[in-house]
Amino acid sequence: MNTIPFQPVRRDEVSWLGTTPIPAAPYYDPAYFELEREAVFKRSWLQIGHVCELSGPGSFIRREVEAANASVLITRGKDNEIRAFHNICTHRGTELVQEESGRRANFSCRYHRWTFGTDGALLSAPDFEQFNLAKADCGLLRVAVEICAGLIFINFAPDPTPLRESLGDLTVRLEALPISLATNFTEYVYEIEANWKLTYDNFQENYHLRFIHPRSSGAGIGAENPFGYAAGFSFHGQHRKQIIWSNPAPPPPPYTLSLAFRQALASAAAKGHVLTPGPTEYFALFPNFFLLGSALQPFSQMVMPISATRSRGVIRIYWIGEDASASERFAREALMASARDVHCEDRDVILAGQKGLSSGALKHIHFQTQEALCRHLYLQVDAMVQAYKAEDLV
Ligand code: FES
Ligand SMILES: [Fe+2]
Repeated sequence: MNTIPFQPVRRDEVSWLGTTPIPAAPYYDPAYFELEREAVFKRSWLQIGHVCELSGPGSFIRREVEAANASVLITRGKDNEIRAFHNICTHRGTELVQEESGRRANFSCRYHRWTFGTDGALLSAPDFEQFNLAKADCGLLRVAVEICAGLIFINFAPDPTPLRESLGDLTVRLEALPISLATNFTEYVYEIEANWKLTYDNFQENYHLRFIHPRSSGAGIGAENPFGYAAGFSFHGQHRKQIIWSNPAPPPPPYTLSLAFRQALASAAAKGHVLTPGPTEYFALFPNFFLLGSALQPFSQMVMPISATRSRGVIRIYWIGEDASASERFAREALMASARDVHCEDRDVILAGQKGLSSGALKHIHFQTQEALCRHLYLQVDAMVQAYKAEDLV
């Protein structure tokens, strides 16, 4: 077979990121995490959902954002506009909505029945004359919300840089992906005793593939690329991207998985979805979200920090159209089951990594050239943390 020989990313291509060891404390230290909370998670665009979860006026989702000590209510108003609010009653601060999602004409606080519209306005409050207040001043507290490629992002900063400006040249690429057309998804949520960067970094490098995934990653490694390294990296402000290497001669997948792929392809064709073949792009959007822009099964993960050493991962595979048959359901579940299998292998080493780091014995860790995306994430986080500390001194 005639193939272009694989060229891994060269050291000089990423040497601008530096080559020195990275301090270990940011991967376990509670004091550093408190700085990240203020400097990063209260000031960055955070991916929180997809528009397909808000399918009609009055639909809502509630999301816990532990990294910002916040609970957020995202609604689609009667006017079809998507808005985000702190999930807090403005009377005395009670959590307003407890369900994870649903559809409502309004939101009534269980404590004293202040009632808010889907646009956040205070509609009614029992015996309101007893307050020295105007209803117009008592609406729910807004959180900035913007959408790109069907993905919903929120930002707790009072006047954040617009999302598209932050995503820069990635905006156009993201909006061309099939995820913007997704109507539903298969989701897998897990919690893990590990720092969010350690958890996330596991998915930003392929150095571990051949050791941790010998069973499941056959297609990802080959004779000319024995580590399954990426075919290219690019850096976009705080964000980064890699092109997943495509094995020209992959081994046949396990029987169940090959059935699932065939069925998923047939279902997509039957629905008239054009699957443009091409390299799979991996978008790492700062701080804690990544998306594999696969044409057949866009795959994403959001890693929500809960504490310095605990995180929650939300893994999704997005689909266009409901299941048309039991075979299509099988295909979708089988593809997610296979992703979960791979994740089980990762989970053990992430936990072991945290155990080692949390001992505090190691003062530094090391990232090689092919782990440049991990280095870039740390550098972005630390730049924000250091800038925040400097502000505090002024
Ligand atoms: S705290 Fe919500 S109505 Fe009183
Ligand atoms: Fe892995």
